[in-house]
Amino acid sequence: MADTVTITDNSTGKSVEFPIKHGSHGPPVIDIRTLYKEFGMFTYDPGFLSTASCESDITFIDGEKGILLYRGYPIDQLAENSSFIETCYLLWYGDLPTANELEEFSGIITRHTMVHEGLRNFYSGFRRDAHPMATMVGVVGALSAFYHDSLDIHDERSREISAHRIIAKLPTIAAWSYRFSRGEPFPYPRNDLGYAENFLQLMFSYPTEEYEPNPVVAKAMDLLFILHADHEQNASTSTVRLAGSSQANPFACISAGVGTLWGPAHGGANEAVIKMLTEIGDVKNIDKYIAKAKDHDDPFRLMGFGHRVYKNYDPRAKIIRKACKEVLDVLKVNDPMFEIALRLEEIALKDEYFVAKKLYPNVDFYSGIIQHAIGIPTNMFTVIFTIGRAIGWISQWKEMITEDQQRIGRPRQLYVGAKTRDYIPMGER
Ligand code: ACO
Repeated sequence: MADTVTITDNSTGKSVEFPIKHGSHGPPVIDIRTLYKEFGMFTYDPGFLSTASCESDITFIDGEKGILLYRGYPIDQLAENSSFIETCYLLWYGDLPTANELEEFSGIITRHTMVHEGLRNFYSGFRRDAHPMATMVGVVGALSAFYHDSLDIHDERSREISAHRIIAKLPTIAAWSYRFSRGEPFPYPRNDLGYAENFLQLMFSYPTEEYEPNPVVAKAMDLLFILHADHEQNASTSTVRLAGSSQANPFACISAGVGTLWGPAHGGANEAVIKMLTEIGDVKNIDKYIAKAKDHDDPFRLMGFGHRVYKNYDPRAKIIRKACKEVLDVLKVNDPMFEIALRLEEIALKDEYFVAKKLYPNVDFYSGIIQHAIGIPTNMFTVIFTIGRAIGWISQWKEMITEDQQRIGRPRQLYVGAKTRDYIPMGER
């Protein structure tokens, strides 16, 4: 039988066959590109619940089974064996590097971590109490005003240099957003340190004393970056692709992604988790909050629970939960929030409401606790997410821009506004 779906317009009796496309994993898709031409109708799918917006060979998620693959490699294997820099190489170039390739790539990233001195001045234009994500959106967008030599999106080498710059400079920009909010000096990057170690010194070192990053903390940081590196066509990545489809420069596109990630329904959820756990305050209050989350008339939601794609335990949450316990043990941190989180999870996983709606902990549920334990301030959580996700955004951007038939993204709509009407002069309204 042909691999097609037949759609019939019952009002006219016209039937058309549409091809079904199969990927290497995941459900097949119906190729409806000619639907409008055939029927003069669009599809209606707000929130893209049933729409594949592109072909991609970067990341695969099976939400039912709780599987996440980067370029085919399971996230748990990467978390166990890889480093963030190696994961960046994998996502950008498509394969794991050889030892020489990794060394060369790592060296390039290390030597791109400084930012143009003029960019430092940007920070003084912001209010001191600005959220670090607000300064991130501005400063990342401003990169395009400083690095003109890599803005030719049609040139492969130019795209690669932009990617190197984004991976390398985001930790510097991110940490300076934090330092600015505290009125502290902006340290320069250190080339003798690895990616995560360098980020920690940018965040926490002082010119007045030596800074030695804690290896446990650096490992946890690197893990967080790996786990956040890509997540196929989520809201911020789709934003980056859509912005890029107009042939905007990569820095402008990434800054659009940063803005999208900031929302509490997306990357801002880890900050919301900590606020929620602080508000719950004690395990004895959990039942009250579970009841609030289940009450349709109450806007309260259990932050860090539920996911558009995962209808099973988010594999990243499982990894962070384990790492969280290890970090708390090693650092000898006795965080009551972790206890509340574990108990909350235990109750929610048994509760009929959460079970029926397949609401499991997502990556944000534990990532806030681990960051809290290693001394990252709450308003930096989404910024950390941004550093990790930037490689995913730029890799997806490259894939989109190099498609054979790359065209501007332009969704259609179901218009439900006023019918055509004549302008009413002011005096007659
Ligand atoms: N607490 C209580 N109820 C919830 C929750 C929650 N966290 N999440 C979903 N539900 C309920 C909804 O009320 C809805 O109930 P209904 O069918 O009776 O109306 C049902 O479960 C389905 O929820 P939707 O909002 O339709 O699911 P959607 O896929 O649109 O939303 C989202 C997913 C935004 C992540 C949602 O689960 C949520 O708001 N969770 C809390 C915020 C959060 O943790 N976000 C991080 C996402 S992961 C990331 O971006 C890295």
